[in-house]
Amino acid sequence: MPNEKHPDVMDRLVSLCKRRGFIFQSSEIYGGTGSVWDYGPLGVELKKNIKDRWWHAMVRARDDIEGLDAAILMHPRVWEASGHVAGFVDPLVDCRNCKKRFRADDPRIKGEPGTPDAQCPSCGMKGTLSAPRQFNLMFKTYMGPVEDTASIVYLRPETAQGIYVNFVNVQQSTRQKIPFGIAQIGKAFRNEITPGNFIFRTREFEQMEMQFFVEPGTDMTWFEYWKEQRMQWHRGLGIDPARLRFHQHTPEELAHYARAAFDVQFDFGGTLGFQEIEGVHNRGDFDLSRHAEYSGKKLEYVDQPNNRRFTPYVVETSVGADRTTLAVLVNGYREESVPGESEGRTVLAIHPSLAPVKAGIFPLVKKDGMPEMAARIAADLRPHFPVFYDEAGAIGRRYRRQDEVGTPFCITVDGQSTSDNTVTIRDRDTLAQDRVSADQLRAALQERLAR
Ligand code: GAP
Repeated sequence: MPNEKHPDVMDRLVSLCKRRGFIFQSSEIYGGTGSVWDYGPLGVELKKNIKDRWWHAMVRARDDIEGLDAAILMHPRVWEASGHVAGFVDPLVDCRNCKKRFRADDPRIKGEPGTPDAQCPSCGMKGTLSAPRQFNLMFKTYMGPVEDTASIVYLRPETAQGIYVNFVNVQQSTRQKIPFGIAQIGKAFRNEITPGNFIFRTREFEQMEMQFFVEPGTDMTWFEYWKEQRMQWHRGLGIDPARLRFHQHTPEELAHYARAAFDVQFDFGGTLGFQEIEGVHNRGDFDLSRHAEYSGKKLEYVDQPNNRRFTPYVVETSVGADRTTLAVLVNGYREESVPGESEGRTVLAIHPSLAPVKAGIFPLVKKDGMPEMAARIAADLRPHFPVFYDEAGAIGRRYRRQDEVGTPFCITVDGQSTSDNTVTIRDRDTLAQDRVSADQLRAALQERLAR
């Protein structure tokens, strides 16, 4: 069904991201690496701004959440305890004819894989699809010089386990009392069978995860609290509230560790439609109990005033930094006509706090002292905001170039500027131009960025 409200912008976005230096295919000069992407100069700033907002909301602005940066490589027993060695699997089928691989539950497969009637969705041959076999999504590598089964380690498929194994270290070193949380941002790796849709599902990605440790019995209250907090955070990124919704997991959908789970979904438009960008999970005492069992160490909370110990329950919030970046890009992407102009424009209407460049600074023309004044303004602002100085080409073209990368303000030094020390500030979204004193520019920008 075509999504009439939000048409598919993915192809145009992929092309913009490459052209303007947001996101490139990994190892492109060698033909690319499947579903792995590199962030270019503007992309790295955008993703960092999103991660900074998360870190601020989850760690800096609260006194009940501590930060952590655990290693990607962990003891292999971690993944036995977590259930990933046995359970982090997808059913996979191969086509003997075209060699393509599919998830066994791929809706495009006609018939039962492994039977003569089953038809390959890629080459169309019948009877060439293998019976499903379980495929573990964890990447394996070897630690140390000997490549044998004793030296296998995994690239973590989620950051959460680094938090559980450090629960006692963090709690004892910070003397936090329950309820409290531990948050971290870091890379995760999954050998997805069917990755795709640009940075939506990739094999290497970044997660922003927080595990909130609570007293059993209070877990559903905290679960509801975190569900709402996390929805508010997504709205605060400037994402259209009508494109966000919750999806409650059915018993069949629940992960092996979860007692209850809601996804925050975003409408990516086109045929992709509403998809998960974040999971909020009530994980009970599954993780701490399993790690206690497998490590032989007590992973309990000691409630000294009441002279008792217990294994806390965990409410997890887990959001993909890349998937949120994609949601922000899709939400902001617009092609529109400009009143009074024959040429339209492409705009990334992203929240000013997320914009990689906050202001473009332009002399109207390359003479009469305008470039010198504009360059001085850019140098004065640069220690405070990321700004971009540009004197090349027609002014309209320079505005368009900044609209396309989401720069919220453009400052122009014109003929009047050099005589009365004023400049214009053009607003990306309203196209309104205000004249302000060059001396007040920093304060004027600060005020606009804080709106
Ligand atoms: N610790 C729980 C956990 O990892 P998940 O639902 O598997 O839960 C959480 O993943 C979030 O991580 C997802 O909502 C998504 O934003 C992101 N994510 C998961 N797999 C991804 C992939 N292959 N590519 C990009 N992001 C992914």
